[in-house]
Amino acid sequence: MSTVGVILAAGSGSRTGLTIPKQFLKLGGKTVLEHSVQTFHDNKGIDEIVIVTAPEYMEQVKGLVQKNSWSKVTAILTGGKERYESSLAAVGHFSHAPETIMLFHDAARPLVSKRIIDDALKAMESFDAIDVAIPAVDTIVQCDSKGTCMTAIQDRSLLWHMQTPQGFRQKTIAEAYRIALKDARFNTTDDCGTVLRYLPEVKVGIVPGSKENIKLTYADDLSLLKFLLSKRER
Ligand code: CTP
Ligand code: MG
Repeated sequence: MSTVGVILAAGSGSRTGLTIPKQFLKLGGKTVLEHSVQTFHDNKGIDEIVIVTAPEYMEQVKGLVQKNSWSKVTAILTGGKERYESSLAAVGHFSHAPETIMLFHDAARPLVSKRIIDDALKAMESFDAIDVAIPAVDTIVQCDSKGTCMTAIQDRSLLWHMQTPQGFRQKTIAEAYRIALKDARFNTTDDCGTVLRYLPEVKVGIVPGSKENIKLTYADDLSLLKFLLSKRER
């Protein structure tokens, strides 16, 4: 049984307001994508890596694989318009190997650590699905769709912020999407959301994430990431 790191890098990064997708922005001398892939590559528990990207960035990603001599990268796959379509490209790629453990990671979280990947793999010994998450620090309020009025305040002690990696056995995530895609009301969500909704009998384990494992979302997140990276390297 093998373990695969799936690096999701097919997004356009529209919220940054920049023309280059955020996974190709530079952070301390290398791209955000390279940081993410390297941490998976360095981990002895990861046997194989696939990178999912947009067709127009295929050549660039191939170049990065060569430059870094990433021998564990076995495929560069074409993603889709929605994040779940990019995940599905990787799920389909391993349809011949249903016991494979797949860790899906946002390329845009370059500060994922060895500890997080180790803990995620360990948790996969007890669960068929896991998510890395951290407890909510702020009170979270539900609002109406226009964002003008509050509708409910949730109990903070039960709320967590989801990060990645999210881990699944291939057969679990494949089955969740097989059911989901037949549902006319399926709306795009992350992979854990699909398992929770369509395979409610599957327990999704929580793995402690970290405050550093932030997702580059807005352009100014880059300065925080640079600071966190410099602290890590000190
Ligand atoms: N992603 C992907 N395929 C998509 C959409 C997103 O592989 N169709 C990846 C992104 O490249 C990113 C991760 O999923 O590494 C998390 O998504 P998000 O932060 O939403 O990235 P983008 O969709 O690129 O950004 P935005 O939503 O601001 O456009
Ligand atoms: Mg997005």
